[in-house]
Amino acid sequence: MAVGEKITLSVIKADIGGWPGHSRVHPQLVETAEEVLSKAVEDGTIIDFYVATCGDDLQLIMTHRKGVDSSEIHGLAWKAFEEATKVAKELGLYGAGQDLLKDAFSGNIRGMGPGIAEMEITLRKSEPVVTFHMDKTEPGAFNLPIFRMFADPFNTAGLVIDPNMHMGFRFEVWDIKEHKRVILNTPEEVYDLLALIGAKSRYVIKRVFPKEGHKIAKDEPVAVVSTEKLFEIAGEYIGKDDPVAIVRAQSGLPALGEVLEPFAFPHLVSGWMRGSHNGPVMPVAMHQANPTRFDGPPRVVALGWQISPEGKLVGPVDLFDDPAFDGARQKAVEIAEYMRRHGPFEPHRLPMEDMEYTTLPGVLKRLEERFEKIE
Ligand code: F6R
Ligand code: MG
Ligand code: MG
Repeated sequence: MAVGEKITLSVIKADIGGWPGHSRVHPQLVETAEEVLSKAVEDGTIIDFYVATCGDDLQLIMTHRKGVDSSEIHGLAWKAFEEATKVAKELGLYGAGQDLLKDAFSGNIRGMGPGIAEMEITLRKSEPVVTFHMDKTEPGAFNLPIFRMFADPFNTAGLVIDPNMHMGFRFEVWDIKEHKRVILNTPEEVYDLLALIGAKSRYVIKRVFPKEGHKIAKDEPVAVVSTEKLFEIAGEYIGKDDPVAIVRAQSGLPALGEVLEPFAFPHLVSGWMRGSHNGPVMPVAMHQANPTRFDGPPRVVALGWQISPEGKLVGPVDLFDDPAFDGARQKAVEIAEYMRRHGPFEPHRLPMEDMEYTTLPGVLKRLEERFEKIE
């Protein structure tokens, strides 16, 4: 393997048990996943891996040559989650195996519970990549930051002053309710794009691509977000689909600091307690990604990597482990406090249709007889 060859980066995550409650991952689950993936390196299935955590989600970061949607790679991730679930059950962890919604693996992990962000890329001379890991929120939480990275000139100076970026990018947006997608070009269609992705519980950015004429081929993603909707898959509440994303950086793409800059603003996302509240997303180091206050507030971890010419993951660098993000963390605490004072009222609590839990149908049924017509 060398520069110019194709390699696939897969980030596959699942909540297979929390410790305690829904707060964090027990170290033995990490060790178990590491054992499974180490064997896969030995037998040549994958090139390299790292097992990360964010809140109660176990995150497998892998490089390999099998392309996206490979049954071998998805099967490997499934096996790692299954083995770790056995340990979670032994330890009596909370919600052991909760994201493994099917009993047996059948070729593709999509629709089976875990979240997936994958991209097959042609290795550049040097390949800086950031993997993002969020807990207690949903894929639409990435809409604002990914938009800012690739389309907002007030965030990304390169869009204005780097001749390699000035042409803009293409955004693939999914309508997750209707199961349709559309590709929009920026800067030309920026208002159309915002009209969609502002409705972040329905329209989510799935991928970003370069345009024709960019150094990177136009069909090669430069960013990808996981968009599995657990409640649609399972037909009942089993946790928010805490998302992950992969973003390539530098050399005609947003610089590392432009990729991280959107998170200096702890924007409001939906999730938090019972997947049913709005709150700020707090950028944290991995050791701080332990949602405690009201099961939150939601967290985002950013891990930085260089991918070596052999496809090895050189890292991670825990990018929010930096006093430069202390202000954003403090701001998130203030916003959390402000939002919490609203208790069960919107807009802290989500509108009815976006809530993951609701007693409302039962309450309405009980009160049915007592409701009177207003003339
Ligand atoms: C949110 C989340 C938690 C749980 C909450 C109740 O995504 O995971 O806030 O919803 O702790 O959990 P159960 O119903 O399992 O007691
Ligand atoms: Mg959980
Ligand atoms: Mg979680």
